[in-house]
Amino acid sequence: MTETTKNKAKQYIYIVQDKNRTMCQIGKTNDLESRLGEYNSNSEGNLYSYLFVCQVANMVVVEYDIKEEYNIYSVEQKKEVFFFNEYLFEVYVNFIKDHKFYIKKIFIEPTSSSEQTIKSVRKTESLEERGMTYREVMQKARNDDDDEFYTQYEDVEKELSMYPKSIWKNKVVYCNCDDPTNVSNPQVSAFASYFLLKFDELKLKKLICTHYDPKTNWSNKGSNAYIFDRNGYTETDFSEESSSVYTGSFDDPISLKILNEDADIVCTNPPFSRAIDYWRTVIQSGKQFIIISNVTNPITTAFIPYFKDKKVWAGYNEVDWFKGTDGKLKRAAGHWYTNIPIKNRPKYKNLKIIPLEKIPESFKQYDDSKTLLVANNYIPSDYKEPFAVSTRPILNGILEKGYKIIQEKTYAPYIDGKCKFARALIQKT
Ligand SMILES: C[S@@+](CC[C@H](N)C(=O)[O-])C[C@H]1O[C@@H](n2cnc3c(N)ncnc32)[C@H](O)[C@@H]1O
Repeated sequence: MTETTKNKAKQYIYIVQDKNRTMCQIGKTNDLESRLGEYNSNSEGNLYSYLFVCQVANMVVVEYDIKEEYNIYSVEQKKEVFFFNEYLFEVYVNFIKDHKFYIKKIFIEPTSSSEQTIKSVRKTESLEERGMTYREVMQKARNDDDDEFYTQYEDVEKELSMYPKSIWKNKVVYCNCDDPTNVSNPQVSAFASYFLLKFDELKLKKLICTHYDPKTNWSNKGSNAYIFDRNGYTETDFSEESSSVYTGSFDDPISLKILNEDADIVCTNPPFSRAIDYWRTVIQSGKQFIIISNVTNPITTAFIPYFKDKKVWAGYNEVDWFKGTDGKLKRAAGHWYTNIPIKNRPKYKNLKIIPLEKIPESFKQYDDSKTLLVANNYIPSDYKEPFAVSTRPILNGILEKGYKIIQEKTYAPYIDGKCKFARALIQKT
């Protein structure tokens, strides 16, 4: 090729990915076919294919700008390899398309194609090696199903955007039940995606995501940690730091070490079936947190002491719909909880704090032990005795309005000998 034809050769920017990894590579070339050939000649059967290709007017500049812009998502010291999930793929493509040297798209493979579904490489271990029987596996599978409620991105954004941006500045966020990968899969963590996309805007110092995947954990190692900071991105299985396999569980010694030594703010929707242990673990760590849990926690014995002692309070929003593993929406009564101060809680307006005699009869009654029960967010302003409320007033902030919980366990009222809905016992301070 003469120097002149070389200069006139078309210039391309591409995103390429091998079949087994959660990363992609972004690069430049004049010859797409040869470049793919180069990747595949070293791939030992782990074939690469293009996810996106476009023609540009100056590939050197475009490639340089991508590296500058997405330093956080690139593998440390290896700037052409970028972290990949469906949100980030869109971000890379949009950046390229908006670049002043972008000419036209040549080829794009939809990320939803099963051909392009990428999984992390995991070392397989037999059930025997994991010390599990088939029966235990089946039992675990049944329990695990209850936990497969994946948070929607909109719900994460709706809640987290309510807190002042200053709380995130220079902080290490730890999402300890979150897989940021799982391309085109509902299980990709919206928490991880939110913090990745907002990394600069929130001025985060670091994002650490660890996850435990029960479906692979029966027989596979299934444990990964993803760490993002300003120098780039690293993935680790901690095999050098631990003699046993790192399970990725939030209470694995390595996860606890991250929680206690590295994390500033913990953010996730933890497994409902492990909520009691999860709350104990996170609250004991003394770290700040914003998490999703059951809407009834304020009236459930295992959690009431935390509300009573002001170690936790409601966040801003409820969460009613989650994604299942099949991507379809399913209902669950979730709510955000936090220990980060909330000023002027918008839901105070739902509380109806008025003199007892003004509360409509249908919303006040006395149980068999003569304890007052109030409903529909009515709160007696002039009543000095303990009275019982549902979870709602607590979620709406009544404990910040001069009332306190006075019993460490659920209050179960009986009326005419029949047990009624559980409540918490509160009193004006
Ligand atoms: C309610 S889902 C939410 C997942 C993700 N945080 C989100 O918001 O989309 C809880 C996740 O925790 C996983 N899980 C189960 N046991 C776990 C454990 N011991 N440690 C960490 N995660 C666990 C479940 O498999 C499930 O993926």
